[in-house]
Amino acid sequence: MVKKYNLKGPKIVVEPPGPKSKKALARKEKCVTSGIRIGLPAALELAEGPFMKDVDGNVYLDFTVGIGVHNCGHRPPEMVKACQDQLDKFIHICFMVSPYESYLKLAEELSKICPGKMTKSIFLNSGSEAIENALKIARAYTKKKWIVSYRTSFHGRTFMDISLTGKEKPYREGFGPLVPNVQHVEFAYCYRCPLKLEYPSCKLACADTIRSIMEKPPLQGDVCALVGEPVQGEGGFINPPPGYWEKMRKICDDNGVLFIDDEVQTGFGRTGKMFAIEHWKCDPDMLITGKGLSLGMPLGGVTGKEEVMSAPGPASLGGTFGGNPVCCAGAIESIKLTKKALPNTKMIHNVEKKRLNEWKEQYEVVGDVRGLGAMMGMELVKTKASKEPIADVTRNIQLNCFKKGLYILTAGQFGNVIRLHPPLVIKQDLLEKGLDIIESALVEETKKAGP
Ligand SMILES: Cc1ncc(COP(=O)(O)O)c(C=O)c1O
Repeated sequence: MVKKYNLKGPKIVVEPPGPKSKKALARKEKCVTSGIRIGLPAALELAEGPFMKDVDGNVYLDFTVGIGVHNCGHRPPEMVKACQDQLDKFIHICFMVSPYESYLKLAEELSKICPGKMTKSIFLNSGSEAIENALKIARAYTKKKWIVSYRTSFHGRTFMDISLTGKEKPYREGFGPLVPNVQHVEFAYCYRCPLKLEYPSCKLACADTIRSIMEKPPLQGDVCALVGEPVQGEGGFINPPPGYWEKMRKICDDNGVLFIDDEVQTGFGRTGKMFAIEHWKCDPDMLITGKGLSLGMPLGGVTGKEEVMSAPGPASLGGTFGGNPVCCAGAIESIKLTKKALPNTKMIHNVEKKRLNEWKEQYEVVGDVRGLGAMMGMELVKTKASKEPIADVTRNIQLNCFKKGLYILTAGQFGNVIRLHPPLVIKQDLLEKGLDIIESALVEETKKAGP
């Protein structure tokens, strides 16, 4: 039996954070590292579908979905049931000890849904760990040294991951020395083009710059992999223009470089396709999964081409919990649910694109509106002409939405991007309700900030 709560919202009964949430936050200060910052100050006790309920009785509409995880809403019954069924059989064995059905079946499913010919997988506990493993595999396969990644990227929290991630604060600062032989390059961030050019007359010159970096010493002939998010998530929902990933694929091929496609945030329908890279004609050598892979059960994966995935030596990869049976059982059901949810991303995209573009016309602070499928965001600036980021106002909008019963996230190099992660199964009226809240918060907070 899967428990039902029939949560309805958004409904604010006590101004958040209410007294019970405040108590929880005070406890957090005493018993949890200061390295973890709480984005929105309510302690939660229940989540169901598009809603979350806090300990004071407030119900929020959730446009964060656990940072891009619950694409099919919280606790879809089919997925909970699949996990329960597996719990009734066994919780953990360790795939390094003996194989089991849910791991094998999930690997087979991924080879069916991943683009190109990627036939082998390994499962880990998180997206971060999956990135680590992909790079170990890439080194084993190519025997080359350098790894190229994007300055505005985010790839997780381990030492390898923060070495790939370009943003110093808060991810890297104080943690050095980091992993050597990582070369950062600029992404196709058209709104703030690093080359001050415009698409399409630029002819994707940013990609040519990467080619020249790869083809000159010290990288020349010694680049193992390019790691990239097809659409950057934490970096600010940045989707490169048409032709970009095709051009990068060619550059990788010309230089014997593997392309590692980090789909931890973009994967499983978020951009309107199962994987975001499918918006371009570019087959990766390895594809990284996490987050929506198992709709909330901790799981990450690397799926790759046969020859690449066969490079590591016996027993060189693994981990006690990687590919936990319950998580894999949940993931198999998640994939089924995601396939069903995919068509609804069209409605989400159309509604969001229309509203956000209207705001761009109407409000001086909306500098850029961008995104694919249900991965839309807007960049907030002092004026359209100056493009000066307004992180404080962006944060205030987030808090204002929270007080009105809507959870949203911010992102971007300057913290000035509002990103929308509604569940892919959301109904139009609820989506509109969430957007109404954002618009009223936008108007109120920009008025408060003054001209
Ligand atoms: C693109 C991308 N890669 C990797 C990660 C790391 O995944 P995890 O937090 O599961 O370790 C994230 C997390 O936000 C991500 O967005």
